[in-house]
Amino acid sequence: MAIIDGKALAEIIKLEIREEVLRLKEAKQNIPHLAAVLIGNNPASESYVKSKVRSCEHVGYESTLIRKDDSITEEELLDIVKDLNEEEDIDGFIVQLPLPDHIDDSKITLAIDPKKDVDGFHPVNFGRMAQGLPCYLPATPFGIMTMLERHKIETEGKHCLVLGRSNIVGSPMSILLSRKAYPGNCTVTLAHSRTKDLTAETLRADIIIAAIGIPNFVSGDMVKEGVVVIDVGINRVEDSSKRRGYRLVGDVDYDSVMPKASFITPVPGGVGPMTVTSLLLNTLRASKKEIYT
Ligand code: GUN
Repeated sequence: MAIIDGKALAEIIKLEIREEVLRLKEAKQNIPHLAAVLIGNNPASESYVKSKVRSCEHVGYESTLIRKDDSITEEELLDIVKDLNEEEDIDGFIVQLPLPDHIDDSKITLAIDPKKDVDGFHPVNFGRMAQGLPCYLPATPFGIMTMLERHKIETEGKHCLVLGRSNIVGSPMSILLSRKAYPGNCTVTLAHSRTKDLTAETLRADIIIAAIGIPNFVSGDMVKEGVVVIDVGINRVEDSSKRRGYRLVGDVDYDSVMPKASFITPVPGGVGPMTVTSLLLNTLRASKKEIYT
């Protein structure tokens, strides 16, 4: 059994990016510049955005943080997006979700120029991904594909079960793992809340990608020996022994699944740290105009 240490892998990739930025600086080429738009005071969003900006600084990118009160109107936010689309100095940007209730998330996502959509949320990038064309991959699927690749995990011909059908994790993962490439060439099943006899599906799976948002949902008796388990869940469960009053657990019951798995990602320290690296890699591609000219 091997634990896939996402934190360590993310550090290795950040070092590689840093070296690339140094090369770009020496060659007097464009230094990647990411902008992040943060609306309101959602503590989780604040912490994610801070970590994204800190990571940019760490690898030598330029970064711009635009913070606005949650009283901002949809029109005002659309104006900010328009400015960022046009600002030549900015290679890519993200608008942190969720947005306040009076703003339509999808309207904002659609307003972002796909060339600068380093979150990979715009339907143009999703469509390009689905057709195997160059695109920005959304952060979590990109991070998972990188983990599978760097750990040389066999995927061809394997039964892969994706738990959860969200637009940003489950659905893209099912497409990526079924495409004719490595990692990929899997026979994919996409399971969700209406799936009947889920245990029959988990027991058949060689690879499980768990992204359903239910703490400890997948247990040891639901998986077969040698399974590869990628746990995307980040759930807070009450824990009075912790100073902050909670601890983080995944969608997988780590203690019972780990002894049966050939590879498993922990929570925290698995998929989570890889998502920021994906954003950095997309921003690098944007600055080099690798995907769109
Ligand atoms: N909210 C939670 N995850 C993400 C993400 O990856 N990008 C953006 N923009 N918002 C998020």
